Amino acid sequence: MNRPAPNLAILGLQWGDEGKGKLVDLLSPRYRQVVRFQGGNNAGHTVVVDGQSIALHQVPSGALHPECFLVVGSGVVLNLEVFQQELDRLKQRGFEVTGRLLMSEKAHLILPYHIALDRWREGGASKIGTTGRGIGPAYEMKAARMGVRLADLKHPDTLRDKLRQGYDEVSIRLGQDADLPTLDAMTENLLQQAQPILPCIGDAQDHLYKAWKRGETILFEGAQATLLDLDHGTYPFVTSSNCSLGGLFTGTGLSPKALDKVLGVGKAYTTRVGAGPFPSELFDSVGDRLREVGREFGTTTGRPRRCGWFDAPITAHACRLNGVDGIGLMKLDVLDGFPEVGIVLGYRDGEGRVTTRIPTCISDWDQLKVEVKYFKGWTEPTRGIKELSKLPKEARVYVEALAESIETPIAYLSTGPDRVEGFVYPGTFLEGMLD
Ligand code: GDP
Ligand code: IMO
Ligand code: MG
Repeated sequence: MNRPAPNLAILGLQWGDEGKGKLVDLLSPRYRQVVRFQGGNNAGHTVVVDGQSIALHQVPSGALHPECFLVVGSGVVLNLEVFQQELDRLKQRGFEVTGRLLMSEKAHLILPYHIALDRWREGGASKIGTTGRGIGPAYEMKAARMGVRLADLKHPDTLRDKLRQGYDEVSIRLGQDADLPTLDAMTENLLQQAQPILPCIGDAQDHLYKAWKRGETILFEGAQATLLDLDHGTYPFVTSSNCSLGGLFTGTGLSPKALDKVLGVGKAYTTRVGAGPFPSELFDSVGDRLREVGREFGTTTGRPRRCGWFDAPITAHACRLNGVDGIGLMKLDVLDGFPEVGIVLGYRDGEGRVTTRIPTCISDWDQLKVEVKYFKGWTEPTRGIKELSKLPKEARVYVEALAESIETPIAYLSTGPDRVEGFVYPGTFLEGMLD
């Protein structure tokens, strides 16, 4: 292990599933602390090692490196049952996290009534296309001051009372449709689920503060992505947490001074799961090919992902919002063999004006027509390439135009799902970090 390294945030720049898990896993050997700070088991982060794929939902993607200490921050919402299943699966595959996991006592629990409410709403007319994991209701009850936190599991006598308000509200709203276990059964079940993880619940903010002051390296793993951010994404078609940079600070309790660099993650094209604006979406055989070659099916729900060309205005917006120092550009290999590849450089609005501005209202998004610049494709495959000099000329022209379109340098170029497929761009802040 070759520490130190800059304290680094890895954040999604599109609508999720950019390949954050691969980058967190890849950089983890440089880091002592690997931290999740928002989201829950709506996230699905895939790590591929020697051809074997491991999906992580709530456990930080540093799990595969035994020297990484794993922290789940206060901004995360947790489904304990799923968390335990994830730990069991990791253990079966030889990854033990006992003794190197801390979960914030301030993190909120995802409860059966959150899941019931999420699914009930999704059955109605105004569908967001959520993952159905109860994420929205868990965060909204947190804001409504009726959430249940991990710390509450340490007070079994009062747990039932803490659960009651949310339970009653959902029961009233859903009536017969609620189909919930009794409050007693829910309390009992939760206490049983909590038993094995009680020793891992503690003061994550204090832990991280001390680690920072000791000079330990910290890697922050974003979940979801900027265009799904509750404030800065395509509202209301977003998730219910702040997945852009601000969420890192509220979700850990660390000062912005504890962060040195931001690595944004984007695919060489664009995807989205669920409903909502997606101006560069392709409905033709090109979109189908991106989906098939890129295996664009959700890690968490298995749903087919909507696919389209790289969208510079949305990605540039994400780079500006997060102060991105460099981009990890993923899945270039998926574009291998396309006769031409496109970059959306702007939008033509309802009045015929070309703009790169990101609208606020859905009705304005709906009017946008994309302005695409096409580039000649490449015939030589990029899959597995590990050096810039080996990239086909046309691929190099494409990625350089892409970097220019978002006014952000490429720091890492990914040419396949495996750890060894890809390379750090020379002269960037990641240089030397994967050696
Ligand atoms: P995350 O949610 O941002 O961690 O991304 P996901 O894991 O949901 O989705 C990214 C998918 O792309 C995973 O299946 C990865 O194994 C895969 N992947 C990552 N980088 C590359 C790459 O450069 N090329 C290809 N073909 N697949 C990749
Ligand atoms: P990772 O971390 C892609 C999407 C859902 C839906 C919207 C709201 O793997 O990139 P939610 O269940 O959060 O209330 O759903 O957000 N969504 C994701 N899309 N990747 C994710 O996570 C996502 N997490 C949520 O599809 O459109
Ligand atoms: Mg994912």
